[in-house]
Amino acid sequence: MKISDQTAFVTGANRGIGRAFISEFLVRGAKKIYAGVRDVHSVDRQLSEDPRIEIVGLDVTDPGGIARAAGVATDASVLVNNAGVVAFESLLDGSMAAVRRQFDTNVFGVLETTRAFAPILRSQQGAVVNVLSAAAWFSAPANGAYCASKAAAWSLTNGLRLELAPAGVLVQGVHFGAVDTDFSAGYDGPKISSGDVVRASLDGLEHDAIEVLVDSHSRAAKEALTGPPNAFVERM
Ligand SMILES: NC(=O)c1ccc[n+]([C@@H]2O[C@H](COP(=O)([O-])OP(=O)(O)OC[C@H]3O[C@@H](n4cnc5c(N)ncnc54)[C@H](OP(=O)(O)O)[C@@H]3O)[C@@H](O)[C@H]2O)c1
Repeated sequence: MKISDQTAFVTGANRGIGRAFISEFLVRGAKKIYAGVRDVHSVDRQLSEDPRIEIVGLDVTDPGGIARAAGVATDASVLVNNAGVVAFESLLDGSMAAVRRQFDTNVFGVLETTRAFAPILRSQQGAVVNVLSAAAWFSAPANGAYCASKAAAWSLTNGLRLELAPAGVLVQGVHFGAVDTDFSAGYDGPKISSGDVVRASLDGLEHDAIEVLVDSHSRAAKEALTGPPNAFVERM
């Protein structure tokens, strides 16, 4: 796939890794980019003034909004399911509302957005990029529900890949550890940049890679799956 031939739709595009996807699609000459954002007033000037970018209001937990977004972006060939949330709460003692919010966004949001865009992507023989995490492959007491949601999103990625492959749609899962965004502001360990993530993902798309392991955390987490289960603890 040549990025310069593509029209992309990115969820959670106003900041963090989603914003970096927009910049990298621009650098690689994408034809057009739809920036899916919860609040259309939250976008910076470069996003709102670039003629190749169209801002689309989208909360991935709102089925009506997802349907409207797919109705606008009828020429999209690459869907980037990037929007995600984390709550640093115990599985047992944290709020169930926080658990549900993470699954609604990180799992059902990905599925429902992909379902809405599937006819468009099939007609374009395009691609889906699911922004996952090394946390798909381990757990941690501080954010067990988030890890579980990313494990579910990984399995979803594998299932969607099988269902979309006959129409020539590639489904890529992207995994990595901590990235320097608002999301990981409370984490003091080493972080890669959002640019590292998006360059690895789009390099991967250009080479038809269905899985991209961006850093040593994601590679170590995946490798540990073949070992004893008590090794599936936080590795970051
Ligand atoms: N940063 C890390 O260390 C890290 C590590 C592994 C994986 N990830 C994954 O990378 C992805 C992006 O994370 P990030 O670091 O860029 O986080 P971030 O800086 O917190 O940005 C999150 C983005 O998701 C959007 N969003 C949240 N809920 C949404 C919803 N219901 N509908 C639409 N958009 C929604 C936010 O919009 P608002 O501005 O409106 O809140 C924001 O644009 C997530 O899927 C995350 O799980 C991040």
